[in-house]
Amino acid sequence: MSTPIATASADARRHAAFVALLAALAGLMFGLDVGVISGAQQFIQRDFAVSDRTIELIVSFMTVGAAIGAALAAWLSVHFGRKRSLIFSAALFVLGSLTCAAAWSPEALIGARLILGLAIGIAAFTAPLYLAEIASEDRRGAMISTYQLMITIGIFVAFLSDTAFGYTGSWRWMLGIIALPGALFLLGVLGLPESPRWLVLRGRHDDANAVLHKLRGDDASARREVAEIEEQLRTPQQGWQLFLRNRNFRRSVGLGIALQIVQQLTGINVVMYYAPRIFGDMGYATSASLWFTAIVGLTNVLATFIAIGLVDRIGRKPILYAGFVVMAIGLGIVGLLMHMGMATQGERLLAVAMLLVFVVGFAFSAGPLVWTLCSEIQPLKGRDFGIGVSTVTNWIGTYIVSATFLTLLNHFGHAQTFWLYAAFNAAFLLFTWALVPETKGVSLEHIERNLMDGRPLRDIGA
Ligand code: BGC
Repeated sequence: MSTPIATASADARRHAAFVALLAALAGLMFGLDVGVISGAQQFIQRDFAVSDRTIELIVSFMTVGAAIGAALAAWLSVHFGRKRSLIFSAALFVLGSLTCAAAWSPEALIGARLILGLAIGIAAFTAPLYLAEIASEDRRGAMISTYQLMITIGIFVAFLSDTAFGYTGSWRWMLGIIALPGALFLLGVLGLPESPRWLVLRGRHDDANAVLHKLRGDDASARREVAEIEEQLRTPQQGWQLFLRNRNFRRSVGLGIALQIVQQLTGINVVMYYAPRIFGDMGYATSASLWFTAIVGLTNVLATFIAIGLVDRIGRKPILYAGFVVMAIGLGIVGLLMHMGMATQGERLLAVAMLLVFVVGFAFSAGPLVWTLCSEIQPLKGRDFGIGVSTVTNWIGTYIVSATFLTLLNHFGHAQTFWLYAAFNAAFLLFTWALVPETKGVSLEHIERNLMDGRPLRDIGA
């Protein structure tokens, strides 16, 4: 027979797992919506008879919405709370997916993609924030990596579903089916507790206590945590004011912006948003292209585990160096094979393999590490602002890459476009050496002290 205490803590564990699962579902939604468009676009192009330029707009307007959504979320999550922000984004996920499926014109589809983007932007800002605020200290890292992993799983599932619907070419089903997990997500977030940190921020200490009691299972830990949150909140967020008057903070915000631009200029979203098109241009038929895309998605998931296993052992910089080298080589060879015309089956297969090598290089390095670094380098007083700015930059970068890829292909050619991205990756070795700090095993307070003392960015983890 279980004692009341054992029951309470088992309940608490179940409750906490449920909360984590739901918040991770936000990552899944994020990934599904990133992944779904790659397989749908060729059928959209066929049905609406539109140019490559219009396809670029349909693909990239989601990222415009996401940039706006991420900026909006910073405000929403303070004024209405984390939970209501997540409910709002879940509702937008459902609305956006259904509108995409029903789109009566290319313009309507672009508008629907904007709505979907707003949903992603809000969820992508709020879910990690919520996770970090609700997780107990010892499980925080694991929860954030789970979220990253869920994004890649979402992309993979979307690629698979695209492959299945690809046989009939039904892009409306590809885009519409996502309303289903969206609805599930909406139901789930309705049942979430509000973030205790936000409740304390609003002066609702009793409510915060009640939530933590349920999550942790005992009153003493709940009270201790509320006290800790109060202590932390004595350092008020100064974001914009701090940015204006403190040069050192401007440096860390600048580094966050640079890291996210670098992440996007690796070219990863050329592959995530356009893989079937790339395989098609290599000479593969539609169904083979979609299958290869599904393999790209699976590779992306699996290689993310490498990062999770290695970051805290090997450190950030060696992993980044390795990643950029692998990515530069992968894309360089893809470009070379494209240049040679890919006349033989062997060359075509090698090109697919090299694209996969590129994806592995990203997924074990810049993919997860840029997000990790961006959350580690900001001083406490400006953390929300700093992370907010870098998140918005991520979407602006995604927009730039996804809105120009087909134009680059059409103007400069395939080989030249891939070489351009290969050259970026090679240049990022220099960037990493000159500006990126090693933050492995260093406390955030230590990083903050070095930054504020004016040490060079690359030394703030020393
Ligand atoms: C990037 C996204 C990308 C994804 C692919 C993330 O780290 O920020 O832009 O689509 O990785 O897995």
